[in-house]
Amino acid sequence: MVMFGVTGDLARKKLLPALYDLANRGRLPASFSLVGFGRRDWNNEEFAEQVKGHVRKGARTDFDEGVWQRLAAGLRFVQAEGFEDDAAYQRLGQELVDLQDQRGTGGNHAFYLSIPPNSFETVSQKLSTHGLARRTTSGADPWSRVIIEKPFGHDEASAHELNHAVERVFASNDVFRIDHYLGKETVQNLLALRFANRLFEPLWNNQHIDHVQITMAEDIGIEGRASYYDGVGAARDVVQNHLLQLLAITAMEEPISFDADHLRREKEKVLEAVQVPSDLASASARGQYTSGNQEGQEVVGFLEEEGFDPTSTTETYAAFTLGIRTRRWDGVPFYLRSGKRLGKRVTEIVVTFKHAPNLLFSEADEDEFGQNALIIRIQPNEGATLRLASKVPGTGMQIRGVDMDFSYGRSFTEESPEAYERLILDVMLGEPPLFPRHREVELSWRILDPFITRWESLEEQPEPYAPGSWGPESAHELLARDGRAWRVP
Ligand code: BG6
Repeated sequence: MVMFGVTGDLARKKLLPALYDLANRGRLPASFSLVGFGRRDWNNEEFAEQVKGHVRKGARTDFDEGVWQRLAAGLRFVQAEGFEDDAAYQRLGQELVDLQDQRGTGGNHAFYLSIPPNSFETVSQKLSTHGLARRTTSGADPWSRVIIEKPFGHDEASAHELNHAVERVFASNDVFRIDHYLGKETVQNLLALRFANRLFEPLWNNQHIDHVQITMAEDIGIEGRASYYDGVGAARDVVQNHLLQLLAITAMEEPISFDADHLRREKEKVLEAVQVPSDLASASARGQYTSGNQEGQEVVGFLEEEGFDPTSTTETYAAFTLGIRTRRWDGVPFYLRSGKRLGKRVTEIVVTFKHAPNLLFSEADEDEFGQNALIIRIQPNEGATLRLASKVPGTGMQIRGVDMDFSYGRSFTEESPEAYERLILDVMLGEPPLFPRHREVELSWRILDPFITRWESLEEQPEPYAPGSWGPESAHELLARDGRAWRVP
C-alpha cells in the first residue's frame, strides 16, 4: 500500500491503527508493506517511529511487539516536495521494485489517496506517467488499485469530472471509494435484518410503513477541522454519502446476490427514484450551533471556532424530507437529519409503522396506540429495538408501547472490526461491494444539489441552535408540518 496524506488526521487516527489491527488479527500477508509519501524529511526508521506512536494511541487490539516488528520491517517513506515532484515518483517506483524483490509484494499496489480531492487528478496522472499505476483487467495479477476518500466533488458536475479524471488512469473496477459507514457491521446488518428474516419484508412498504427517520447526530463540534469543513457543511460532509447510503439500503429491493454489481444496481435504482420536493424551503432545514453550555462544559459557537470566517454560512446541521417514487415507497416520507453538537452521539434508522386499526381498545390513548417501530441502532449501543403495543398489567385493557431489544454486546461474543479494517481488507482482496461506484456518487449529488444551491443563494445565516439541543426550530417544524415529530434518541 502506498499512502498519500500519511501525516493527515485520518491516517493518524484511523488508517494506520487499522493496518496494525489487521496485522495483529493475522489478516495481512507477510509480504505486506506500506510506503508513506509525504513532505516530511523522514527516513524509514523515523517514519516507523511515527507510525508506532499512532498505532499505540489508536489501535483497538493490544500492542504486540512481535507483530509490530514484522509490520515495521515493511515500512518505507518517500520524501516529496509535493504531489508534482517527479523525482519523488521515480524514487517511489524504485522503492516498489525493491519491495517486490525483498518482500515479495508481487507488484500488487493499492494507492490510498487520503488527500484533498483537488489533488486526485494530479496524483493519478503522475502515477500513470511514471508507470506506477496501470489499468488492469478485473481479476488480473498484478493489480493496481486506488482508494479515494470523500468528498467526491462538491456537486454532481464536479463529481462527474473527478470520476473521469481518476478513471482515466485506473479501471473503474479498481477504484475504491470509501464511505466508512458501509464498513460498519450494523450497516451491513441492515441487509441481514431485511433479507435474512421473513418478518419484515412483507411489511416493508407504503401499505404498512408510515415514515422513516434517519438520524446521524454528533455531540462534538468541528474539532480543528475548519479548513476541511468550511464551505462543506453537514449536507456535503455526511448526508451526500453516509445518510443517502443508509436510505438506499433501507429502501432498496432485494439484490439477486451480494455481488458488487447486483448490490450497487439496487442502491442506484433507489437513488434514482428519490424525489426532490418542489418546495425546497419546506422540505429542508439548516442550522449553525452557537456557543453555550453542553453537558456542563462551555463550548464555543461554530462562528467563533478557530479558522472560520465569522460570516460563514456553512451549516452544521441539515435536515431533509425526501420521497421515493416507486410502487413500494410512494407516499412514505424519509426524513434525514445530521448535525454537530447535538444532544448526543447517535446514528439510527427508525422505521415507523402505521397505526393499527383500533377497534377494540377504547381505553387506549390514540397517540400511544399500536404504532410499531423498528429502531436500528447503527451506533453506539449497536443493535435494534422493536416497539410493540402491550397490555398494561391490571384491570381494564390499557395499552402501552414496550420495547423488545437486541444488542450486539449481549448476543455476540465476536468483536466487530473497525469499519476501516474491513474496508482496507476488502480493497486488498479486490472485493468491491461495500464501495459506492461512480454513478451512486453522482446520483447522490443530484438529490442534494437543488437544496444546496438554494441555501447558497440565501443571504441569511443558517438558523442558530444551542449546543446539546436537537437542532434548529425549523427542523422540528419540518416534521410538525406533517403531523409528526423527530424521535428523541
Ligand atoms: C466523517 C465526517 O465522514 O464521519 C465527520 O467527515 C464525522 O465530520 C464522521 O465526524 C463521523 O464518523 P463516525 O463513524 O464517528 O460516525
